[in-house]
Amino acid sequence: MNDFIFQSPTRFVFGRGYTDRIGAEVAATGARKALVLYGGGSVERTGTLARVTASLDAAGVAHVEQGGIRPNPEVNQVRAAIETARSENADVILAVGGGSVIDAAKATAFGVPYDGDVWDFFAGTAAIEACLPIACVLTIPAAGSEGSGSCVISNDELNLKRGVNGDIFRPAVSVLDPELTFTLPPYQTAAGITDMIAHICERYFSGVGPVPVSDNICTGLIRAVMPAGTRAIEEPADYDARATIMWTSTLAHSDIAGCGRSLSPAARAGGWESHGLEHEISAHSPAVTHGAGLAVIMPAWMRYVWREDPARFLSFAKDVFDIEPVDDTEEAVADAVEATIDELQNYFASLGMPKTLDAFGAVPADVDAWIGTLEQNKGAEFGAFRRLTMDDARAIYLSAFA
Ligand code: NZQ
Ligand code: ZN
Repeated sequence: MNDFIFQSPTRFVFGRGYTDRIGAEVAATGARKALVLYGGGSVERTGTLARVTASLDAAGVAHVEQGGIRPNPEVNQVRAAIETARSENADVILAVGGGSVIDAAKATAFGVPYDGDVWDFFAGTAAIEACLPIACVLTIPAAGSEGSGSCVISNDELNLKRGVNGDIFRPAVSVLDPELTFTLPPYQTAAGITDMIAHICERYFSGVGPVPVSDNICTGLIRAVMPAGTRAIEEPADYDARATIMWTSTLAHSDIAGCGRSLSPAARAGGWESHGLEHEISAHSPAVTHGAGLAVIMPAWMRYVWREDPARFLSFAKDVFDIEPVDDTEEAVADAVEATIDELQNYFASLGMPKTLDAFGAVPADVDAWIGTLEQNKGAEFGAFRRLTMDDARAIYLSAFA
């Protein structure tokens, strides 16, 4: 087990109807005025936003609202939110939504105390040294941003989607109310489940291992969430299924599943190859849902790299799907690993996720543009399980078309 530093300072407030507690939770942080960020309108339609503002009123927390944060949030929306937070003297940023709104809230929170342009942090020309507190009411379990030390923002002008990592902007408090997710469209439910499984796999296949404690957390979370996902698609208002999915989202990306598997104690475990490859697709086409992109890219990445460490994939096969090779010949191992990747991909498809990039209207000619920005983001090589050159990345993308 490698050395690690694990910091998860967020207070998680989990339960039925707990949305109405957000005001008291925000007041308890000492904040006086919240900038409430939300997305394209789902929280207005469901009444969640009205509950949140009523709860803030009841707790004596002043507030100003700003909606319209899009999926794959854009830096100009963050710049606008920073202006609002400054002019309104907000001292807490409250996200009511999913990963996109929470990431916009995080970037706003560390953008407000900074004199320069917030994109500097994503360009790598400035380090985050100060940050307003962040609170969340999670409406879609997926990205894990409610507990993560990550923030991902797109820049349409540059065709870039970039993340920054740091414990300083982990949320102070996140309210997790599974009932809010009953209204999720099946596609978003499925994309969320795919994303959380990917967050676990990026850590499990980090090139460091085995680490029994973390391995069991990883495979146990996947075994818990898979049947819950199937159930939630069949019965959207099944509370226990929704609760299982919601808590898995948080644990999948809080870093608890990666402890002991990073290459330096303060670094996140894993090479994040599938995420790196997917982010180029949703950077160039913001209509692509991140989790849906992963449903296609991660199996393609697995098929390309598993020979680097077949034993690691066999552990995954046994512990998640109970698949074992019939003997120890190379052919039997290959059959078992390929069957495992098929099982995973078929599971995503059973929830309604696509199997090939064609589903997004992408064509092989798009790959050049993705490689161009991938190289800007990652350099000539990236990855931990197996180092990937840009030629490898191209081969993975091309293998993911029908
Ligand atoms: O915008 P509204 O109208 O609210 O609709 C949203 C949006 O269209 C809808 N939705 C959310 N809650 C709902 C609901 N519809 C009905 N009922 C509800 N209760 O769902 C759609 C997707 O929302 P979004 O926030 O975009 O989803 P997600 O949580 O998957 O976030 C995706 C973003 O997070 C980034 C992704 O790259 C992407 O930009 N990620 C962030 C990470 C992090 N900060 O740690 C890690 C991830 O790997 C990921 O990269
Ligand atoms: Zn993700």
